[in-house]
Amino acid sequence: MILRIVANSGRYQMSPAPTQSGDSMLRELPATHPRPYHRLLGPRPVYFIGSSRPDGKPHLCAATNVTSISSDPALIAVALWPEWETTANVRRSRRLTVSLALSDQVASVLTAGHRYSGITLPTDSSDKFTAAGLTPLTTVADYPAGVAESAAVLVCDVVEVVTGLGDHDVVIAKVRAAWVDPESISDDLVLDLTRRRPLLQLTGAQFATAQPMG
Ligand SMILES: Cc1cc2nc3c(=O)[nH]c(=O)nc-3n(C[C@H](O)[C@H](O)[C@H](O)COP(=O)(O)O)c2cc1C
Repeated sequence: MILRIVANSGRYQMSPAPTQSGDSMLRELPATHPRPYHRLLGPRPVYFIGSSRPDGKPHLCAATNVTSISSDPALIAVALWPEWETTANVRRSRRLTVSLALSDQVASVLTAGHRYSGITLPTDSSDKFTAAGLTPLTTVADYPAGVAESAAVLVCDVVEVVTGLGDHDVVIAKVRAAWVDPESISDDLVLDLTRRRPLLQLTGAQFATAQPMG
């Protein structure tokens, strides 16, 4: 039997609902729920988004709104809040890097994501690589730096920025080149979880990681 839930003093009161779905444990969220639906896609891998400042210096932020949208050509989508410096940098230069964050990089991620995590940097123009304890990886000439401590870095050209759909700008980008750590990424580009583990965000500063099965 599937049950529908209704709000009840901040908890969910379950009520039976007609169903054709067999014995599923799933329950419908009440209409009064605040609905941060994106959390239901989690946990989601965390990435460092590299961009170039107007003076060419490297900059970064953290992002989980990142996914592949085409294998050939290799296209990705990154949803960025319009007010971040990163968003302005990416829109201006039409270039970005995406570096996979690892399970031992929580502090760096929270610093890279300072406006979200509430960490105060010395100034708005502070070097976030230094603040986050990360090293800029020079990739293709005139492209933004990646994160040298990552296991994989994608260097991308912006194809399109979709605005006005929601509260984030959707950056669609084509992968131009990639850097990998051959010790932890196989020839067919699969991360070896026995060597390095991805950092996954549940929500806020709650994180998890992945482990191999079997
Ligand atoms: C784990 C984590 C995930 C984040 N995911 C996103 C995201 O997907 N999109 C986004 O716009 N901001 C995201 N943020 C927030 C930005 O990283 C953060 O506000 C950052 O300080 C923006 O930096 P900037 O203004 O220097 O570019 C995330 C932050 C953290 C800590």
